[in-house]
Parts: sequence; structure tokens; C-alpha cells
Amino acid sequence: MKHLSNLLNITHPIVQAPMLGITTPAMVAAVSNAGALGSLPVGGLSPERTRELIRATKSLTNRPFAVNLFAHEPAPEINKAEIELMQDFLAGICAEYSIPYQRQDADAFKFYYYEDLIDVLLEENIPIVSVTFGQLKPDVISALKQNNVKLIGTATGVAEAKILAQSGVDAITVQGIEAGGHRGSFLPESDLPQVGLFSLLPQVAGEVDLPLLAAGGIYDARTVKAAFALGTAGVQVGSIFIIADESAASEAYKQAVLNSTDTSTALTRAFSGKWARGIQNEFMQRMQASGLPIPYYTIQNQLMSSIRAHAQKHNIKDFIALWAGQSAGKSVRASTHQIITALINML
Ligand SMILES: Cc1cc2nc3c(=O)[nH]c(=O)nc-3n(C[C@H](O)[C@H](O)[C@H](O)COP(=O)(O)O)c2cc1C
Repeated sequence: MKHLSNLLNITHPIVQAPMLGITTPAMVAAVSNAGALGSLPVGGLSPERTRELIRATKSLTNRPFAVNLFAHEPAPEINKAEIELMQDFLAGICAEYSIPYQRQDADAFKFYYYEDLIDVLLEENIPIVSVTFGQLKPDVISALKQNNVKLIGTATGVAEAKILAQSGVDAITVQGIEAGGHRGSFLPESDLPQVGLFSLLPQVAGEVDLPLLAAGGIYDARTVKAAFALGTAGVQVGSIFIIADESAASEAYKQAVLNSTDTSTALTRAFSGKWARGIQNEFMQRMQASGLPIPYYTIQNQLMSSIRAHAQKHNIKDFIALWAGQSAGKSVRASTHQIITALINML
């Protein structure tokens, strides 16, 4: 096994996947306190909110945890006609379901990119930064490395893994198609890799000489052991933490996860404009049936944000982005401490 535990200063080679909207400081701290690695997602958040979340996590643990960034390119030029058509559709569907919808002015959209957060991470002495949706710019990588920060990239195909390895990351999360949430893919959308972990992991292990973290469908002793047999140095587990006591998921979301089966999820761009895996619901189906062009991430994400927030608050499962993987239904309700301890005992 490669030197993952030494590299990340952890006892057990298990990473709690960062899950924006779901992961809380209490979840991250519970995982790190158990000797595994908690990950705090801050992709798209403001520097102020990022610092607040980091400090809240630090108040609960002295152990290392990772902070997770989104390294996507800015959306291409804003297509106002496309946005207006999408807003007409969203206003109509919200009226049907009595969900308030406020039209938005595309010129007023404010996005935070990872570059906005680097100073906060350095000032807060964050030891590990994980990244999805691409690679960090070389000057950012050198600034982080000069401060001895360890970097973990995300690859969904062999080509992406090779690019990340060349960029200087210290480890790579290999995300199979089973995985819940957004695809970490960053090569042109027409080539979106859809490779299962069983195929992808040994192929990446054969091409890249870095410690790997296997992500997608891992939930029990068999799946953990299979990942190690296929050449990983550690595992990154997401979906089974959605129903944890410390998760921010609404009760409707947790119930949908617990009731899901192997075939409940699908890939969709409906909620954010970027491909992601979630439990199928009315909104995903209505969007697909509409045939409308979906504005690129992060525009669609912004158009949907108030609808998603309302649905979370009022437990309207058909309008929540129910991000979950193909094995999410195997989750068991428990505290984060119990979930991570059970995984550790499977090693
Ligand atoms: C609800 C949810 C949110 C996620 N959000 C993020 C995120 O913010 N950053 C990230 O790198 N990965 C994110 N992911 C993907 C995970 O890092 C990981 O690849 C995935 O959970 C592994 O598959 P599994 O869900 O089958 O365990 C998310 C996954 C889920 C289920």
C-alpha cells in the first residue's frame, strides 16, 4: 500500500467525501476525531463563510481535515435568451407546485471561484486541500506547496488522472460512475467519462504512480476490500453519510436515500448545469421532457438555488437535488461516529 496515511497524517485510510449542502463541521470533526479524514466542502462559498466553517470545524477537532474546492472554469459567455427561456419554464413549474420563484437578473450573478479562497486556506493553515472539477492553476499549486499543503485531485478517467499527476497533486480520488453527486470530470463535456470503479481503478493504478482514493459505491466490508484489491491506497465514501445524524440533509432527502435501490439514480444536468448523479424525481423528469437547453454551470445552479432551498426547508422531495450514489440505499441511520467506526472496523 502506498503511503497515504503518512501523507495525510491520519490513522485509517478512509476519507469522508466532501458533500456541499450535506456535510457539516460536526460531521467533518467526528470523522477526523476517529482517525480518518473529514473533508469540509466550500466550493462556491464566500471567503467569509469559508473561514466561519473552518473555524467551526477547528473548534470541534484538533485532528487534520481537508478543505474541498471546485476548480471549474468560469461559465462561457452568458446566453440571456437561454436564461430567459429557462426562467419561464421554472416560473411555470413552480406555480404548479406553489413554490415561490423570483426571476433573476443574469447581470447581477455573483460567483466565487477557488482563487477567492486560497488566502483563507493559507491563513487558517489548512493541511490538505482536495479539488474537484479540474486542476488548480500552477501559481496556486506552488503557493499551497510552499506552505506544505497536500493536494488531492479528482479523476473520472485515466486521461484526467495523468493530467492531475503531471500538475503535481500528491494523491488522486478516482471517482467511478456509481458515485453520488457531481462528476468531477473536467475534460470537454462531449467526452464525459462514464467508467465504473471496477474498470477505472486498476487502469489508473497501472498508469499513475500516486496514492489513489477509490470513490463510488463503497459501503461495506466487501466493497472496501474490493477497492484495495483493485489497487487503491484508501477509500472516499460519501452517500452513506447523507443519513448521518450530523448531516444537513432534510428528512425527505434522508427518506429518499433510505428507500432508494440500485436503479433509483440517474445522471442529470437539471439542477446545476453540470452532470451529477441523484435519485430521480419529478423535477429531473420534467426538465428532461421539456427538451430545453440547460444553461451551463454555474448559471443553472444559480437559477435553481432559491427553489432548492425552499424544497429543502419544506421537505418537497421532488424539487430537492437528491444527490446520491448507486449504493446509497444500503445506508443505515446512525451518528457519523458510528458510521466511520463501522467502516474503520472493516479495514
Ligand atoms: C450529496 C453529495 C454531495 C457531493 N458533493 C461533493 C463536493 O462538494 N465535492 C466533491 O469533491 N465531491 C462531492 N461529491 C462526490 C463525492 O466526493 C464522492 O465522489 C462520492 O460521494 C462517492 O460515491 P458514493 O456517494 O457512492 O460514496 C458529493 C457526493 C454526494 C453524494
